[in-house]
Amino acid sequence: MITIIAAVAANRAIGFENKLLYWLPNDLKRFKALTTGNTIIMGRRTFESLPKGALPNRRNIVISRTQSEFPGCDTYNSLEEAIGHCSSDEDIYILGGASVYEQALPIADRLCLTEIHDTPKQADAYFPEYKGWHEEKREEHTTDEKHNQAYAFVDYVK
Ligand SMILES: NC(=O)c1ccc[n+]([C@@H]2O[C@H](COP(=O)([O-])OP(=O)(O)OC[C@H]3O[C@@H](n4cnc5c(N)ncnc54)[C@H](OP(=O)(O)O)[C@@H]3O)[C@@H](O)[C@H]2O)c1
Repeated sequence: MITIIAAVAANRAIGFENKLLYWLPNDLKRFKALTTGNTIIMGRRTFESLPKGALPNRRNIVISRTQSEFPGCDTYNSLEEAIGHCSSDEDIYILGGASVYEQALPIADRLCLTEIHDTPKQADAYFPEYKGWHEEKREEHTTDEKHNQAYAFVDYVK
C-alpha cells in the first residue's frame, strides 16, 4: 500500500523556504502514529528540512539525483527505484515534498491529509490538485490552546 501523507492549507500550500507552514501537535502525533514501524520516502529537500535528520523507528528512504548518502537513510535516484526496493508487505508513506507528491499521486493508493482551514501569507511549495479522489473519512478539529488553526484529518482513496 502506498499512502501520501501531507498537511495542506486551504490553497494547497505545504511549505515556505523549506519549512512547514503550521505547528499542529495533533498532526505531528497522527503522523508519528501512522508512519512509525513503516517505510517513509521523501525528497532530498524534505530530508534537509528535518531538524534531527532521519526519523526514528521507521525505514527512511531519500530520493536524490545529486547525493547518494544521507545518514540513517537508504537512498535511490528515482521514486520508481525506491519503491522497487520495497517489499510487497511494506506500508509505504510518501512524505513529500511538492515534487515527490506530484510524482507519487498517480501511483498512490491512499491520501492521509491534514487539511488546514487557513491560507498562509507566504508559500512556495504546493500539494498537487487531488480532485477525483474519493473522501473516505473526515475528522474535523476546532482551534484550541495548542492549535491556532482549525483542521481536519481526511483520508481519500482512488
Ligand atoms: N506540509 C507537508 O506535509 C510537507 C511535507 C513535506 C515537505 N513539505 C515542504 O515541501 C517543501 C519541499 O518540497 P520540494 O518540492 O521543494 O522538495 P522535495 O520534493 O522534498 O525534494 C526535491 C528533491 O528531491 C529529489 N528528487 C525529487 N524527485 C526525484 C526523482 N524522481 N528522482 C531522484 N530524485 C528526486 C531531488 O533531489 P536532488 O536535487 O538532490 O537531485 C529534488 O531536488 C518544503 O517547504 C517542505 O517544508 C511539506
